Amino acid sequence: MRHLLNINHLALYALYIPTLLCAVLPFEPIQKFISSEQQAVKKFRDLQIGELNFIHTTDTHGWLGSHLNEENYDATWGDLISFVDKLRQNVIKENDLLLIDTGDKHDGNGLSDATIPNGLNSTQIFNEMNYDLLTLGNHELYVEDNTVLEFYETASNPKFKGKYVSSNVEFIKEDGSKVPFGSKYRYFTTKNKDLRILAFSFLFNFERANQRATVTPVANALKQEWFKEVTKTYSRDDVDVIIVFGHLPVSDPENREINHLHSKLRHNYPNTFIHYFGGHTHIRDFVSLDNKAYGIQSGRFCETVGFSSVDDVKKESPVVSRRYIDFNLDSFMHHAKVKNIDDFDTELGLTVNEHIKELREDLNLTTVFGYVPSTYYMYNKPLSSPHNIYNLLTTKVLPRLVSDRPDVIAESGGRIIMINSGSIRFDLHEGPFTTDTKYTISPFSNTWNYIKLPLELAMQIESYLNGMGPILTLNVPGENRRHCPFVNDKSLPKGYTTSDDLGCEGDDTLHRSEHEYRIPNVVQSIDIINEDAKTIDFVYYSFIQPYVLEALNDLNEDQNIVDHEFSEQDCKIYGGASTKDLLREYIISLGNKSGNSINI
Ligand SMILES: *[C@@H]1O[C@H](CO)[C@@H](O)[C@H](O)[C@H]1NC(C)=O
Ligand SMILES: *[C@@H]1O[C@H](CO)[C@@H](O)[C@H](O)[C@H]1NC(C)=O
Ligand SMILES: [Zn+2]
Ligand SMILES: [Zn+2]
Repeated sequence: MRHLLNINHLALYALYIPTLLCAVLPFEPIQKFISSEQQAVKKFRDLQIGELNFIHTTDTHGWLGSHLNEENYDATWGDLISFVDKLRQNVIKENDLLLIDTGDKHDGNGLSDATIPNGLNSTQIFNEMNYDLLTLGNHELYVEDNTVLEFYETASNPKFKGKYVSSNVEFIKEDGSKVPFGSKYRYFTTKNKDLRILAFSFLFNFERANQRATVTPVANALKQEWFKEVTKTYSRDDVDVIIVFGHLPVSDPENREINHLHSKLRHNYPNTFIHYFGGHTHIRDFVSLDNKAYGIQSGRFCETVGFSSVDDVKKESPVVSRRYIDFNLDSFMHHAKVKNIDDFDTELGLTVNEHIKELREDLNLTTVFGYVPSTYYMYNKPLSSPHNIYNLLTTKVLPRLVSDRPDVIAESGGRIIMINSGSIRFDLHEGPFTTDTKYTISPFSNTWNYIKLPLELAMQIESYLNGMGPILTLNVPGENRRHCPFVNDKSLPKGYTTSDDLGCEGDDTLHRSEHEYRIPNVVQSIDIINEDAKTIDFVYYSFIQPYVLEALNDLNEDQNIVDHEFSEQDCKIYGGASTKDLLREYIISLGNKSGNSINI
């Protein structure tokens, strides 16, 4: 979790805002925008095919229509469908290939988030993939409508009968009865190698599910009767491979959920090969839990297709391998051993791509509002850099906030505007700024509150919150267990240089490393008009209010600046546009400064 307050909780506040179609700029659709940075030559690392092979997706968050401003991730969901088909046909052949997804399909992209309920159409597109095993993530459990949609459209879809597995989540039906969210487990035999597989799926201990679902902590689920029965029915002699795929991280030094799960499974199956598939923390990762147990995690946002394989799976020393495939056509065609695009596309792949295009148009996601002159990064530039997105927000965007309430401004000595860094989800890429960009940068619709505060107190909140313990810590990306060399080779394209338990060569494409900087929990924009004024307006996302109040009371208890205990009564609605709308207005204000033609 690289996000403040576990950013996933913010999704709870993601409501649909009707799109205002003002100021649409007249761009000529001529040719695809190409980022100059991505012209470098590609070098690939090949897949190592085993008797049992896996394709793994996770945390797609609605990014089924590719990354329009990022050449490196230019493939769509339809392309992935074609890739899997061609890979099977040309490369896997008489071996086995299983397709697995580990959830989080909403919140992050207009394709999923611009409909009511969110995911209405993107779910259909997602479900065109012929998964062998699939499940849900926490983002399917925040809002009731999402949960109902997921249960009826996907978990209960005849296409996925038996294949949709959830071992520790229950759905609550209209009549109040509780049923498993799909199957509790799946036992099956693979098509080509006759491997007997027992599969479970666990969601991490998620405590904010809406009233239509319940999550049983993994440790409790393993003590339940059904689990005892399954392990009795399918004993160690009936199982060649155990697959545990779920929405939980494969490296979890804090809660160690996967480690507890593994020791329990090892108790029942001391010598069986176990493969874990994880998600949620949005990283590329591969762990070795013992010499017959491994786990892969395959990134986020359709930037990565995870591949892993195992050979000699029934022998004493199985051979495993993994690759993180960049979600682009070059990689797909390379690994599927297809030379030209006409041999690559399948009928279903093309149909799905057509559907994505139609949906994007129906939802007006292609509407171009302006042009982003250069890329603004979350982690790859320091906060002090003008190319950092938080720097852009605090210096250029947040100052544009105007309260709905004229009385607020009249009597103020100035204001501070604070946001949590976790509310921003993605880099703002050079290129056209569309309706979709708004959803990708910040899928949440924040509301602003404010408190009148003495300047002296207001000025201390930031450092208080940024120094705060576990609930507010950010995971620094790249802070992995291993330390792989920083790759500086300018001839390589920028991208992931992953380090995992198997080493430094997991990425399918050789990349140049990017610097990563630690970003604080909160950032703020300060505008003090009158240093002598008694009070200023401290404006913040309503979402972080409990933390602001905690900071205020803690600071004031030590320093006695005011004779007052702060509570919700002190917090008032400030109003004004959301950050994503302020950002859009800022981009519009820049005008069309690009000489490039764009076609999206
Ligand atoms: C989206 O879903 C609605 C409701 O099922 C349907 O009427 C509409 O045609 C769909 N649009 C697209 C582009 O799939
Ligand atoms: C898309 O734009 C058209 C034309 O401006 C409008 O009629 C339609 O309601 C919009 N659709 C959505 C989903 O915003
Ligand atoms: Zn996620
Ligand atoms: Zn998640």
